[in-house]
Amino acid sequence: MPRPLVTRAVDAVLDRSVVLGYTTIGLAVRRALPGWPADPPAGALSGRHVLVTGASSGLGIATVEGLADLGATVHLLVRDEAKGAAVADRIRAGRPTAELRLWRCDVADLDDVRRFATDLSAVVPDLHAVVHNAGVMPPERTESPQGFELSMAVHLLGPVVMTEALREPLAGGRVVLVSSGGMYGQPLHADDPAYRQGDYSPTTAYARSKRWQVEMAPLLAERWSADDITVATMHPGWADTPGVRDSLPRFRAITRPVLRDDAQGADTSVWLAAVEPAPETGRFWHDRVERPTHLLRRTRPSGDERADAWAWLVEAAGLT
Ligand SMILES: NC(=O)c1ccc[n+]([C@@H]2O[C@H](COP(=O)([O-])OP(=O)(O)OC[C@H]3O[C@@H](n4cnc5c(N)ncnc54)[C@H](OP(=O)(O)O)[C@@H]3O)[C@@H](O)[C@H]2O)c1
Repeated sequence: MPRPLVTRAVDAVLDRSVVLGYTTIGLAVRRALPGWPADPPAGALSGRHVLVTGASSGLGIATVEGLADLGATVHLLVRDEAKGAAVADRIRAGRPTAELRLWRCDVADLDDVRRFATDLSAVVPDLHAVVHNAGVMPPERTESPQGFELSMAVHLLGPVVMTEALREPLAGGRVVLVSSGGMYGQPLHADDPAYRQGDYSPTTAYARSKRWQVEMAPLLAERWSADDITVATMHPGWADTPGVRDSLPRFRAITRPVLRDDAQGADTSVWLAAVEPAPETGRFWHDRVERPTHLLRRTRPSGDERADAWAWLVEAAGLT
């Protein structure tokens, strides 16, 4: 159903106000307006395999549950096997028919990512979707095993290397990159992907890496279109997860009454993985609707900056 003009107008006001749009209020109002995109039908993912990273906490758990509820066999990628097993047990307790498989991998470690992709490909020949949900906000500047700044490694390099290594089973499938509304405040900084210039700030490092996801998505979409793989970036709004509790306690104290629950934060990831036909590739989504990638002129990269960023990514992720 096309979205009526009044829906689009109210939605745009919610979106630009940030506080209203990103909270439970935004989702509740949008759901109530005419033109809210329909839920995928029951069983939409039955017989399909979907991989979710960061499946041991917050939005990752809710994404696994949402996908399992649609009938998918869900592969939970976790970095802590014991924590992941406890999560899988809890999900199975509430959903006895859920088909869940547990995998251990450190998304920041590109060697481990390649090892994992080889292992998964050996037993899952046909992967419908990957939801790259794992996320971090390192309190101090930290480097990955290969020497990359950690948020760039977890949010961009790990997902790109993993997807590239999974191209064969993922042919005809989908990639969802979980970004953040925080990226609206940051330009690309293509000249400093290692974040060596200026004082390190956890929120800035986090938001920059999320900006990179969104800026690189159209180029990745073009690359992977050769295998008919689509790419979507999305942001979940603000949800009351362990990540927010640990990394942003003051923000949480102020916003807590209106923060989304985990399922509300995961709604668009699940929808993007399941809706038919696959949403147009390379686009940025929130609450089931395509969103602008920039709200401020100062964050728009030039063609040269985007090209420099792509050249860095090609080199860093070993895309040949
Ligand atoms: N919550 C929000 O309001 C919000 C807003 C915007 C964007 N997001 C994004 O949504 C995603 C999920 O966030 P969340 O709030 O659910 O955070 P969370 O509760 O901190 O969960 C993050 C997950 O990522 C995993 N992870 C972190 N580093 C990893 C690594 N190197 N290898 C493998 N797994 C790793 C964590 O594993 P452990 O369980 O072992 O720690 C955890 O399962 C993130 O990408 C985040 O940036 C969230």
